[in-house]
Amino acid sequence: MRSKDFFQIIKKIGNSTSLRPIKFKNILIGRAMCGIVGYIGAKSAAGLIVNGLKRLEYRGYDSAGVVTVEDDGLYVEKCEGKVAELDRRVKYGELRATLGVGHTRWATHGAPTDANAHPHTDNSGAIAIVHNGIIENHAAIKSKLSEKGYIFRSETDSEVLAVLIGCHYERLRNLEEAARAALSEIEGTFGLAMVSSHDRDILIVARRGSPIVIGMGEGEYIAASDASAIIQHTRQVIYLEDNEMAVIRRGGCLTKTIQNVATKGKIHELDYDVESIEKGGFAHFMLKEIYEQPTSFRDAMRGRLMVEDGNVKLGGLRLVEDKIRNAKRLILLGCGTAWHAGLAGEYMLERLAKIPVEVEYASEFRYRNPIISADDVVIAISQSGETADTLAALREAKLKGATILGVVNVVGSTIARSTDAGVYIHAGPEIGVASTKAFTSQLAALALLALYLGRMHSLSQLEGSMIAEALRTIPEKIQFILDHAESVRSIAQEYAKADNFFFLGRGANFPVALEGALKLKEISYINAQGYPAAEMKHGPIALIDDKTPALFIVPKDELYEKTLSNIEEVRARGGRIIAIAGEGDTHIQKLAESVIYIPNTLPILQPILATIPLQLLAYYIAVERGTNVDMPRNLAKSVTVE
Ligand code: G6P
Repeated sequence: MRSKDFFQIIKKIGNSTSLRPIKFKNILIGRAMCGIVGYIGAKSAAGLIVNGLKRLEYRGYDSAGVVTVEDDGLYVEKCEGKVAELDRRVKYGELRATLGVGHTRWATHGAPTDANAHPHTDNSGAIAIVHNGIIENHAAIKSKLSEKGYIFRSETDSEVLAVLIGCHYERLRNLEEAARAALSEIEGTFGLAMVSSHDRDILIVARRGSPIVIGMGEGEYIAASDASAIIQHTRQVIYLEDNEMAVIRRGGCLTKTIQNVATKGKIHELDYDVESIEKGGFAHFMLKEIYEQPTSFRDAMRGRLMVEDGNVKLGGLRLVEDKIRNAKRLILLGCGTAWHAGLAGEYMLERLAKIPVEVEYASEFRYRNPIISADDVVIAISQSGETADTLAALREAKLKGATILGVVNVVGSTIARSTDAGVYIHAGPEIGVASTKAFTSQLAALALLALYLGRMHSLSQLEGSMIAEALRTIPEKIQFILDHAESVRSIAQEYAKADNFFFLGRGANFPVALEGALKLKEISYINAQGYPAAEMKHGPIALIDDKTPALFIVPKDELYEKTLSNIEEVRARGGRIIAIAGEGDTHIQKLAESVIYIPNTLPILQPILATIPLQLLAYYIAVERGTNVDMPRNLAKSVTVE
């Protein structure tokens, strides 16, 4: 069943503790952004694990590895590079094991080398682990173990954990107890999966700060750091809580705390299917996700928008309605694209709800000791719901007494579970590292929130109804832009060789200019800058020359004439102008070298439509330049490092 909002999730689990909002003191922040897959069952493990890693590769792709528990001991294969390289190296023909674990890594500690890739084994070579997170006291443990004669082959903190488990095993002769002893000794965070040739019927997983999901199939279990690796096998999953572990045998799965107190792992049903994490005929996930936007935008509004009443129903906010109604200020937090959504949300919220809004980089927020009171409502915006900076900022806001909300995509993610209430954006899985549909769905959720708050305050039914009606028609307008993508593609071909690019907009279109520049930077590696158009003359215009395209977002709104003046200023310095303009604006053709037309809508919603050609432009330019669109260099989808 598709969960409509945060609180339905809580209802669904009845009296279980597993998905209640959890207190911040229990939340730790993982520090490595990697993917984990573990398998125990009747099938051949290696292929299944490597396929799972392919699904998780968007979480990190600088090295990968797999270990299987064969009749004659552990088979370990690991290498620098992508999962495809690992796939080439694995000797599938020789492998029989039905138990194993694998890992795909985004390096934080130690360079992405073969030695640093996971799995890591203990000194006996009989115990292997894959690990997400960071062992804070790894140096102290390493020196203690070194003194006892243990050796280390990598620069990673994860290997220290593997060796420590091995050391405890020598004494305890029991894998579960050895894992428990080691995990109790370490400080820091982990998502852990472990196998051993000592026992071919046990897979141990554990979590503190880094997500672990266990898929329950027919006589088989697939554990992973993210449900994308599980969905093709089963929809029934258990989410491990922080400080929980699971001892998984072919005959059953037991969850318990790391201190060995049994817990009730509640089974949840995943609410998406395998098609949604496949490319479905598109050349890239990013393009597929761009094209999904008419649907994803509609899904964000489904069951929430009441056009006639000019109002919005947000079930996930029911329990905090009074807090929101009386909020003196809203603070929006996010990173990257989510921060841009926050900036765009500020315009909608201030315009419709007339509540002061501040938008903060989550990564900066807590370090300036922000002044927050119980009258503030702090809203974290996050696609993954796992971003470390956003979680840390939320924790700070909670500590200072604010009501904390989430605008989150991934159901059951840490941010979703840590907030007092929230609005799921229901965009479905987003695999492309450059965020597209999640951004427009975040804008949809923020527009709904603005309308909801507006109607609580001064917005009339008539005004509300007009905005709701305009929102209702956004998906078909997005579809119209997508149907004309060919024109964006030819513009992209023309400008693909540029070394520098400006994205300029005013008012509510400024955040979208920032987002357009970010998309281009991320996937084409072109130096792109977003600016408020009127700021150009205060400095950046010095960079304009006849090789530098300047893309202006210039819909017919109250700032139209002023933006035209800004265009003239750039034109006068020889800049090449691309315009994103409202349908029917013929005047703009006299000023711009290239024009992309978008359908007209209310000015506060225009940024949503302006986003689509910017995504397409970045995509087609990247394709033209031959970059890896879905896995751009140096990036990861979900950044769980601070
Ligand atoms: C990473 C991603 C960005 C994303 C940001 C915030 O940097 O590469 O695309 O916008 O994290 O992620 P979140 O999951 O919190 O929205």
